[in-house]
Amino acid sequence: MNPGGAPDGPGMLDWLRTRRSRRTFEDRPVPREVLGRLVEAAVTAPSNTNRQPWKFAVVTGEATRKRLAAAVRARADEIKGIIRQGHHAEDFSNYSDFFHEPLESAAAIVVPQYRAYPDLIADLIQSGGGDPSKYHTASSMQAELCSTSAAVMALLLQAHAEGLGACWMAGPMVGKDEVEALLGIKEPWRMVGAVAIGHPVGEVQAPGRKSIERVVSWFDE
Ligand SMILES: Cc1cc2nc3c(=O)[nH]c(=O)nc-3n(C[C@H](O)[C@H](O)[C@H](O)COP(=O)(O)O)c2cc1C
Repeated sequence: MNPGGAPDGPGMLDWLRTRRSRRTFEDRPVPREVLGRLVEAAVTAPSNTNRQPWKFAVVTGEATRKRLAAAVRARADEIKGIIRQGHHAEDFSNYSDFFHEPLESAAAIVVPQYRAYPDLIADLIQSGGGDPSKYHTASSMQAELCSTSAAVMALLLQAHAEGLGACWMAGPMVGKDEVEALLGIKEPWRMVGAVAIGHPVGEVQAPGRKSIERVVSWFDE
């Protein structure tokens, strides 16, 4: 351990490697205090000009969880019905279960949200008579979405540290309109998928990772 209580470098890496996306959960609640710590962890993330462009809806109530999961399932089924007419019915049929199934047994569903801000630098370029389309700025990297993604990763790691399982999912985006209406999410806020959280059931295999050689380019000179 380092003085701040953090694991040493190699220890941290070992621990990061043990985080898994978990998709089935026991039927028991996660205490509010623990869920609170997950959000506290999320907001430790860095953000562009410290804008903290995030919000988190934490859904623990059974009725709302069920409505949310049902809305996503209905949309996934609708899409499945359309795709069934084409050549990829089998592929999508299995795949779409991952859109809603983890939500169905989750004790809590966190719906992260982000908002984009006006592009200040572009405005300044324009005010100086320049053409903002000739320059890249933070909006080229969707900086607020990146910041919120960093926050979600911190939340996932806190869940792992609490002994919980979690799965951040893009699948629920098929039910974006319904989920946003259910949780009162309005423009400029936008949901960024949903995180299923709970006490995980069983064990899961670690999906492989691409080799470091494939994903890194070193520029040492
Ligand atoms: C942005 C994002 C979207 C994801 N969407 C889904 C999803 O819709 N359903 C699901 O079951 N898992 C989803 N996952 C989890 C990935 O499948 C998982 O991270 C990947 O297979 C690696 O496994 P690991 O998280 O256990 O290392 C998503 C992960 C991320 C980061």
